[in-house]
Amino acid sequence: MEIEQLIRDNIRVLKGYSCAREEFTGQGVTFLDANESPYDTGYNRYPDPYQRELKEAVARVKGVDPRRLILGNGSDELIDLLIRSTCEPGRDNLIVFSPSYSMYEVCGHVNGAEVRVIDLGDHFEPPWETLFDRVDERTRLLFFCTPNNPTGNRWPLERIREVAERFTGWVVVDEAYMDFVTGGEAASAISLQARFPRVVVLQTLSKAWGLAGLRVGIGIACPELIAYLNRVKPPYNINTPAQRAAIEALADTATFRERVATIVRERERLYRAFLEMACFERVYPSEANFLLARCPAYGELYDYLVRHGVVIRVRHIPPLLERCLRFSVGTPAENDRLMELLLHWQR
Ligand SMILES: Cc1ncc(COP(=O)(O)O)c(C=O)c1O
Repeated sequence: MEIEQLIRDNIRVLKGYSCAREEFTGQGVTFLDANESPYDTGYNRYPDPYQRELKEAVARVKGVDPRRLILGNGSDELIDLLIRSTCEPGRDNLIVFSPSYSMYEVCGHVNGAEVRVIDLGDHFEPPWETLFDRVDERTRLLFFCTPNNPTGNRWPLERIREVAERFTGWVVVDEAYMDFVTGGEAASAISLQARFPRVVVLQTLSKAWGLAGLRVGIGIACPELIAYLNRVKPPYNINTPAQRAAIEALADTATFRERVATIVRERERLYRAFLEMACFERVYPSEANFLLARCPAYGELYDYLVRHGVVIRVRHIPPLLERCLRFSVGTPAENDRLMELLLHWQR
């Protein structure tokens, strides 16, 4: 299918809002074009609507052409933007897997799309052989999350490539946790995106880059789709301090690498310790910055940890995630404290 046919009818013909900072991009002049305040507060000017400098920094780190980038107010904004721009409400559908990140489903419903949920199999993998049974000519999007939240496992790139070859809609690969995967660059679908224009990769500065509070999500897609999404997104969706701070953070790849290495090491330390603990019936291996574990008394354990000042997440999602808890990896000291509490837990 042509790219144009995979865009919602009204978006295909939409003339986007043209903002002042888009029509004139020079510097060193008197700006009387955007109804801003002339008094310098540090923030009296609107930010760059296309975040050009930040995109250059992201492009360098990710090894992609900046023309293939769109940045969102978190990748959550990009998930919504993708569905809003491609699905005709009341007509089109999208496919999500369960358990996975629930925003795909929420955004699908918000945008009036039919959401088709496919359960993951026992090994927390999509049913690769049968998933096309749920696809029809109205299926616009398919969301893969790898490593998957909350299961922590990764889905083979080769399988995703096979789907991209066959599926005629948008294949969205959410790689929010890919930075924690050892050899993540080779495992990433960014390489697929270059060959398959209907593949869209989502990443974020919220996890490994430690900037969840800034809200910067990264979309990597073909330039045609980027052009449509740019027309739909609010013009100033990444604020000035967020753009500045993200550019600064992306320049310090040494700190990034060191912190990722520590988190990965700590994840493995926690994993090995959890395996030895009687309170867990099952601990799942993870390639992300969290661990999933099944605990028969999950509610009591959760309450006990909260009482002692440690908050984790209940992920009791039957049938696959019966009585499961999700633990984000903290600093070494926080993880020590968690393990100490778990070891002393008396019911
Ligand atoms: C798989 C996945 N995708 C996307 C997001 C949203 O990230 P952002 O902070 O970039 O909106 C999360 C957040 O937890 C996530 O787990």
